[in-house]
Amino acid sequence: MKALILAGGAGTRLRPITHTSAKQLVPVANKPILFYGIEAMAAAGIKEIGIIVGDTRAEVMSTVGDGGQFGVAVTYIPQDAPLGLAHCVLIAEEFLGADDFVMYLGDNLLEQDLSAFVHAFETARNGAEPPTAQILLKQVPDPHRFGIATLDANGNVVHLVEKPADPPSNLALVGVYLFDKTIHTAVASIEPSPRGELEITDAIQWLIDQGYRVRTELLSGWWIDTGKLTPLLEANRLLLEKIETRLDGSVDEASAIDGRVIVEAGAVVINSTIRGPVAIGAGARIVDSFIGPFSAIGDDCIITNSEVEHSVIMARSTITDIPRLEDSLIGREAVVVRTQKRPRAARLMIGDHCQIDVE
Ligand code: DAU
Repeated sequence: MKALILAGGAGTRLRPITHTSAKQLVPVANKPILFYGIEAMAAAGIKEIGIIVGDTRAEVMSTVGDGGQFGVAVTYIPQDAPLGLAHCVLIAEEFLGADDFVMYLGDNLLEQDLSAFVHAFETARNGAEPPTAQILLKQVPDPHRFGIATLDANGNVVHLVEKPADPPSNLALVGVYLFDKTIHTAVASIEPSPRGELEITDAIQWLIDQGYRVRTELLSGWWIDTGKLTPLLEANRLLLEKIETRLDGSVDEASAIDGRVIVEAGAVVINSTIRGPVAIGAGARIVDSFIGPFSAIGDDCIITNSEVEHSVIMARSTITDIPRLEDSLIGREAVVVRTQKRPRAARLMIGDHCQIDVE
């Protein structure tokens, strides 16, 4: 079993962050989203991972490396333009060969361990009526945003449609799929959709229409497609819920730590209150500030005389004299400073290297 992780694409919905960097590398709970997917594949016993990379390939490749840090071997597969999820399978054919594989969308985060999902497919493949594919479904409140499945009375999938205006059900396709080699014939047989992409949804529909068996499983834990700000902050919240306190950095006597808080090595907390769950990255400096629940402060950030809550602050950013910053995503090496002393709360999504003066 191999894995194909998709980390190309455009990422228009997280602009401006994704103007300069890969959406799959935005950190949640201080770890790049993509790392959770790689770790899930490694935990399911998969050792060979192909990663589809697009315009942001240099950043993805330098962050993930050869996969050694995860105990896997990574092969990079460049995609010239985001021509669709099925196009990713098409260009990965040489890497995948005749092997079964997991396809994992690099911006998806799942609570559930995927080993059981992978092993269920392996077991079914050795059974009487081996499936050629397995999909994972989850009920969602906003089905027009996803690929949507219709099941028959026996729970078998009969129809799939991509982002329907009039959804036939609320069962969304989660971004984790299992395939055998038949998918290569499917992706070569379909045409681009009205949005100009080769859709994996259409390739799976092709399998169904040809009479191949497609297994379905329902996901029990949470699942987040992190492509937008609100789900990204939600994923950050859900993952911070799981942290355990670890204070490897220094916290002075004038500071208070409440609840579960990680202070990484080299981080310094001076005259501040940290109310968990909060993660503070290596080398960060928190001075005369309040860091409230569900905040992730990246490595080497400097937060001075400010209040931050329910936000992701990416590495090497500086926040100075901001009375309240909430529900925000701040890019890398950004500078947010208040020059006038009127009290004001700020809600921001700002890109890497920006300087914002809040007046
Ligand atoms: O998140 C689940 C949904 O993912 C499914 O319900 C949909 O059926 C499926 O089409 C997909 O929809 P999205 O519109 O959310 O896919 P997105 O364009 O965000 O791409 C998913 C990941 O794949 C993302 O990490 C970028 C990467 N990608 C995407 C395309 C289109 C590539 O690497 N290459 C591509 O050509």
